[in-house]
Amino acid sequence: MGQYVGICGSYEYYFYGYYFQRRERIVEEMNLIVTGGAGFIGSNFIYYELENHPEDRVICLDKLTYAGNLSTLEEAMKSPQFRFVKGDIADRECVEKLFEEEHPDIVVNFAAESHVDRSIEDPGIFLMTNVIGTEVLMDACRKYGIKRYHQVSTDEVYGDLPLDRPDLFFTEETPIHTSSPYSASKASADLLVLAYYRTFRLPVSITRCSNNYGPFHFPEKLIPLMISRALADEPLPVYGKGENVRDWLYVVDHCSAIDLVIRKGREGEVYNIGGHNERTNLEVVKTILRELGKPESLISYVTDRPGHDMRYAIDPGKIHRELGWLPQTKFDDGIHRTVQWYLEHREWWEKILSGEYRNYFDHMYGKRLQQ
Ligand code: NAD
Ligand code: DAU
Repeated sequence: MGQYVGICGSYEYYFYGYYFQRRERIVEEMNLIVTGGAGFIGSNFIYYELENHPEDRVICLDKLTYAGNLSTLEEAMKSPQFRFVKGDIADRECVEKLFEEEHPDIVVNFAAESHVDRSIEDPGIFLMTNVIGTEVLMDACRKYGIKRYHQVSTDEVYGDLPLDRPDLFFTEETPIHTSSPYSASKASADLLVLAYYRTFRLPVSITRCSNNYGPFHFPEKLIPLMISRALADEPLPVYGKGENVRDWLYVVDHCSAIDLVIRKGREGEVYNIGGHNERTNLEVVKTILRELGKPESLISYVTDRPGHDMRYAIDPGKIHRELGWLPQTKFDDGIHRTVQWYLEHREWWEKILSGEYRNYFDHMYGKRLQQ
């Protein structure tokens, strides 16, 4: 089998080292359940699927926690190929009812408690959603049959890398070595997924991606938090010295990678996703300030995150070699586009920043910012 290169019209292209082969694309209509689709990456994935696979039906199952936002899916709701269902992935009855109604071919599990800082405050819900929720979904897949169960995981399961070894990267063989309750819950789920493959032969796949950025990113995470606070001329809370490194990937590139893996990736396999886009937090914050024309004096160094991972860096060689995936968006373009998106969609994030979120911010940052 040659290396998959991509789709053009009704053909798929494969590369055999020195020649290309074109094969007619067999378009099979599929039902996809996308969990956590009212959140950041899940919603971007739903839009990606509706645009790139108009033949498929997409059903979003989301509990609408503080991080889920129905207004994000407003455009998707207009499509006859889309259905939204409010429900908890850890609720067996709800999940089984949905499987009976929809007979999904593919389940892509984005649903999670995703914020490291919140996991340090209250780990319990992370275990319930991220671990038990994964088990409930996979049990339903076993009971009703499935072509693919896909687990959206994270590079955080590998722990961190030292700052003084830029030659080191996470590969799929890097041992699991978690730091936070969040990453421990994601790693537990990954192990469970691989156990269901080995024990029950459930057709699974896992992707482990680096930090995403782009539209619909909840403003508790670094990039949207800094954009929204800089626009209000409020202090920007940088943890520690701001020297921690993250490997940033534009969210649509993550979506295209998952799309390839669920359709072409091998069962039982893990694929790392990343774009070799390492930046210190301070570099990211300064880039945002430049984009917005705001002064660096807004930066405020605050108490570090406990157990803060130093550096993440992904080796995406496997997904490139096997599936031909490459990221399309350079960081400078992606961050510019993202800042513009937040400028043009103020109503989306301003609504979030009012109400309950205000209490969260005061609780988490009140003491840190007073230093
Ligand atoms: P998010 O917090 O923006 O969205 C999570 C979504 O899941 C929300 O819509 C929420 O309502 C929903 N949800 C939470 N608990 C649920 C439950 N019990 N049942 C049903 N729905 C529930 O998260 P995100 O940043 O979009 O991340 C999505 C996935 O990608 C997560 O699994 C995360 O671990 C993984 N991931 C995120 C990143 C990143 O940079 N954000 C990088 C790599 C991997
Ligand atoms: O690497 C993938 C992971 O990326 C995902 O699995 C997580 O779901 C996602 O939240 C993200 O985790 P991080 O902890 O890396 O993202 P966060 O945006 O919370 O923080 C990015 C970096 O910025 C991190 O080093 C902590 C720092 N930071 C964060 C916040 C919120 C600050 O300095 N100040 C802040 O206020």
